[in-house]
Amino acid sequence: MTGDVTRVSTDFWWGAATASYQVEGAVDEDGRGPSIWDTFAAQPGRIADGSSGAVACDSYHRWSEDLDLLSGLGANAYRFSIAWPRVQPPGHGGVNPRGVAYYDRLVDGLLERGIAPFATLFHWDLPQPLQDAGGWMVRETAERFAEYAAVVADALGDRVAAWGTLNEPFVHMALGYAFGTHAPGETLLLDAFAAGHHQLLGHGLAVQALRASGDVPVMLVNNLTPVRAASASPEDAAAAQVYDAFHNRMFLDTVLRGTYPDELADAAGAVVHDGDLATVAQPLDLLGVNYYNPTLVKAPGADNPLPFELVPIEGYPTTGFGWPVVPDGLTELLVGLRDTYGDALPPVVVTENGCAYPDEPGPNGSVDDADRIAYLESHVDAVGAAREAGVDVRGYLAWSLLDNFEWAEGYTQRFGITRVDFATGERTPKASYAWFRDRIARGW
Ligand code: FCB
Repeated sequence: MTGDVTRVSTDFWWGAATASYQVEGAVDEDGRGPSIWDTFAAQPGRIADGSSGAVACDSYHRWSEDLDLLSGLGANAYRFSIAWPRVQPPGHGGVNPRGVAYYDRLVDGLLERGIAPFATLFHWDLPQPLQDAGGWMVRETAERFAEYAAVVADALGDRVAAWGTLNEPFVHMALGYAFGTHAPGETLLLDAFAAGHHQLLGHGLAVQALRASGDVPVMLVNNLTPVRAASASPEDAAAAQVYDAFHNRMFLDTVLRGTYPDELADAAGAVVHDGDLATVAQPLDLLGVNYYNPTLVKAPGADNPLPFELVPIEGYPTTGFGWPVVPDGLTELLVGLRDTYGDALPPVVVTENGCAYPDEPGPNGSVDDADRIAYLESHVDAVGAAREAGVDVRGYLAWSLLDNFEWAEGYTQRFGITRVDFATGERTPKASYAWFRDRIARGW
């Protein structure tokens, strides 16, 4: 550890996570500039219900209510993200003091309640002017990111408990740049690799900037998935290997070992400069792991331009989103990380885990989300099993504290342990909130 992780003293971080564009709203307030998600959501057909994050949970105004929800939960950590377009509306240059003031209030409010602030610097809401200059397809964005990290560290580094640099660079590369279902909506397929590499470079440069400014622990937050081959055929096994290289190892081998997986050598050849990997592989204090489900892969069909094809996993219950519920996959993932990376693996925090269900309030207004309780309980148990197997897991943060703007799904997928009435902003803790409160109180 290079820093004092326990500014809020704890054996294990229990809490919940959110992200700026998904909860804040107030997109035109206090000098915030446009982000790629404002642009994307305004394009017809992009968001399932035609909505945007313009109001979302209105956490920009209701933040203290949200922090009280965390207190009521007994949480000792809250993972939120900082909106780059609030802090540096053009994506470079000086700080917008009115934007930073919001995060000052939030961080101070957390510390007053004894809750560790875990701040993610980039959860996908890139300032639009940086996208106009090429977004993550260009190296300069990595440099801008490091400058932004320094500005935020200067403003909040005296109080934040841990920094997360990027949220899920794989998902941003894949959905944002390869398949176009997320902002910025590019459909570059394998050429999207550059957007992944430049995020990694930005991560490395940002870690250097954060270290230069103080001793706050730093992590990268990855979306990770155990990859399974659809059959025992060598073709399916090979396709699964390639998928695993893109989804998992591209964002682990680089950061923890300073190498790209062999499967990505061709893609990397065109984009990676000498010295980049040394920058990417900065020592980390923690690794954030977001887990939702495993992935099943088969060899691509004849007209598939990609070297793999994803297939639905059968034989498990599914969430409202249609995602399979496979708690053992989380134990497998955590134990596999330890076995693969050994001493190179820093302590792990499960920085997101949760499920969407179409829960509705009953006649008395309460939300009896028994399926979410079952999901969370089985996944917390899966973390317990990994800990018993000797994996150093330091926290579990549920996704999400609130129902919120679920990207391309708009408000149609509710992940919260708290219901949000999007017409009024009213918050109602669900049965899963009470369950999680009791689970947190029990500890390990
Ligand atoms: C993750 C994202 C998070 C949320 C959950 C459901 O990939 O990081 O913002 O949308 O999925």
